[in-house]
Amino acid sequence: MVVRSVWESWPARWVSHLRASRPLRLLVLSGAVALAVLVVALLQYILMLRDKEIAAAQRELATLNLSLAEQTARSIQNVDLVLTSVIDQMKAEGIASPQDMVRLGTNQETHDLLKAKASVVPQIDAVMLVGADGQLLNFSRFYPAPGISVADRDYFQALRDTPTDRPVLGEPVQNRATGGWTVHLARRISAPNGRFLGLAVGAIDLDYFQRLYRGLRVGDDASSISLWRRDGILLTRHPAIPDVGKPVGQRRFLEVLAKADSGEFLATDGLDAGTRVVATRAVGAYPVVVNVTRTLDDVLRGWRTQVMTIAVAGLVGVMALVLALWALARQFRAYEAAAQAMAETRRAMAGREQAELALRQAQKMEAVGQLTGGVAHDFNNLLQALSINLHVIEGRCQDDRLALPIRMALQAVERGATLTQHLLAFSRRQPLRPERVDVAALIDRVAALLERTLGGVVRVEHRADPGLWPVLADANQLEMALLNLAINARDAMPDGGLLILEATNQTSRQATNPGNGGPHPTGSPPEEGVCITVRDTGTGMTPDVLARATEPFFTTKEVGRGTGLGLAMVQGLATRSGGGLTIDSQPGRGTTVRLVLPRAGLATAPPPAQQGGEAAPTATPETANACSILLVDDEDLVRGATADFLTQAGFAVQEAADAETALGLLERGTAVDVIVTDHMMPGMNGLDMVRAIRARNNPIPILMVTGFAEELRSDVAEVAEGLSLLAKPVVPQSLVRSIRAMASLSTAA
Ligand SMILES: Nc1ncnc2c1ncn2[C@@H]1O[C@H](COP(=O)(O)OP(=O)(O)OP(=O)(O)O)[C@@H](O)[C@H]1O
Ligand SMILES: [Mg+2]
Repeated sequence: MVVRSVWESWPARWVSHLRASRPLRLLVLSGAVALAVLVVALLQYILMLRDKEIAAAQRELATLNLSLAEQTARSIQNVDLVLTSVIDQMKAEGIASPQDMVRLGTNQETHDLLKAKASVVPQIDAVMLVGADGQLLNFSRFYPAPGISVADRDYFQALRDTPTDRPVLGEPVQNRATGGWTVHLARRISAPNGRFLGLAVGAIDLDYFQRLYRGLRVGDDASSISLWRRDGILLTRHPAIPDVGKPVGQRRFLEVLAKADSGEFLATDGLDAGTRVVATRAVGAYPVVVNVTRTLDDVLRGWRTQVMTIAVAGLVGVMALVLALWALARQFRAYEAAAQAMAETRRAMAGREQAELALRQAQKMEAVGQLTGGVAHDFNNLLQALSINLHVIEGRCQDDRLALPIRMALQAVERGATLTQHLLAFSRRQPLRPERVDVAALIDRVAALLERTLGGVVRVEHRADPGLWPVLADANQLEMALLNLAINARDAMPDGGLLILEATNQTSRQATNPGNGGPHPTGSPPEEGVCITVRDTGTGMTPDVLARATEPFFTTKEVGRGTGLGLAMVQGLATRSGGGLTIDSQPGRGTTVRLVLPRAGLATAPPPAQQGGEAAPTATPETANACSILLVDDEDLVRGATADFLTQAGFAVQEAADAETALGLLERGTAVDVIVTDHMMPGMNGLDMVRAIRARNNPIPILMVTGFAEELRSDVAEVAEGLSLLAKPVVPQSLVRSIRAMASLSTAA
């Protein structure tokens, strides 16, 4: 069962191997061609050997036939000589008339002469003299001759009617007594004036030739030697057949002899069945033909043995070739499989390296993120202190000359705040406010802005798919991201160029372009999203620059022109929105950045979580007057400045440098309407302090001002009642508004 299934699957397996591998196909094909060539060559060699064998047999038979014909000719010639000598003798006696012929022909001396002549030539059966009327005159065997007429015989009629000095051969006749065959050779006896006087006839014993031929070995027992009259009448044959005297068989030799005196050929249907090799030859001056034949079967006996040997050797050769080919194909297949496995291993290793690289990059980013976050936090505190102090100064200073410097200082603080926004956006500390964004409208707006600012040198084109899906993202940050990308493009095209903003719908199946370098793509693309493409015809990036482009603080721009946070911010936004970023760039061929954002669901996005700021309800000034605040912050600078500002704004402010102090004040029953606190403080942090207050069932409203608003959001949820978050750095007015809103809430409660 198992064995059978192995054998059943074997050809199918090889067919699939052959389909898969072109070199293997070539190998097998060339092997098959070699096999075919070998087989054809062998067959051709065998056929050539056969032809050679037949040709050799024909040559051999022709040689044999030459000597046989000579021998036959000599035998007939001997009879002929007897006839001519008898005729010469008679002519010497001076016969001139038929009467002379009868007189001389019938006497005893002539009979003795005939008898003597006949006795020395063994093939002569008898010698006769025939008169002009066909009557037998003398007979070497009996005297006087019996009264027989040969006037009806073909040789008599031929010689009587035609004066010729050539002998004529008659038809063979059978001796009724002995059954033996005789053929008559006759010569015309003419008077000096040419008149026909009669014939001298020699009866030739055809058994003589039988005996002569029997002694020769031509081939196997089926080979034959035969004697024919020139008109195709069989005279004798060895081995004997009963058809003597008849025109038997196809007699193809007559056609051959019509063109030449001798020839060889293959006769497919001779006297007996089967093909024969035939050599035919006309016998000198006499109208006789000698044929020698061998059966093809006999001729090819040796060749067949050779064929067997060659076939066995060829078969072994073919089998060896097939085996070698099979082994080679197997080896080749194994080699290919090994090469494939090696390639796969290499690919897997490359994949692992890629993954390790990505992991290292992610770890690096995390570390840089933490560092950046920490720096941004401290920096935020400083900005907070600066901002509040500047506002205090602005409020108290009556000197107009200071108004402008204070404004400029506040602007600087604002720019610093934007920078920390970038830092926080990248380091994931900046809260996102995802909402449904109409990308087409956003692109229109950004493009219009860019045309105004970049117009002239850089041409701006923009297009969006009709029916573009809305995306779920922070609209402000997305706008900032597009501006960042556009500014990068502008910087890459100092001599002008084309900037294209494009937005298309994209499903995960289409998102196949992973960009051509660097730590991209970021994140896995959403199932359904919108791809925003920002393309420029600028300088492009070298692979090294491309690899590091999204790293924070990586810039190739001169000091003061770039912070290296643009792409880091865009990438942070993409990742945190659940989308992705890919960059394609080559030196001299421009850059294409693709930002993919997830499609917004049909339900409207949740409204941004309450963070204070502009969203806080405004309170009346009266509430401020009645309001006492406990301000908790470990940073003296920030706390002092904030306290000053709030006091100036009409609040009664008590300060605490840490959470413990604040809790102590509350314990002692200090009257407080709103607590304003930082979160990151040494010892107990802001959130823990809130929990401690709530644990004492104190529902006092608390406003937390922190750079970590986003991260705290989920923790804050558990103590959401009466707690608000405000992101640092906070504009003093919005702090005041938030405090008033909370104070009014507490009075309402
Ligand atoms: N479109 C662009 N064509 C060519 N190079 C670019 C392109 N965008 C970014 N780069 C390369 O990537 C670097 C990093 O870009 P990124 O936007 O992060 O920082 P920056 O532009 O140098 O500074 P910042 O945007 O913070 O002002 C650039 O300094 C520049 O070498
Ligand atoms: Mg930039």
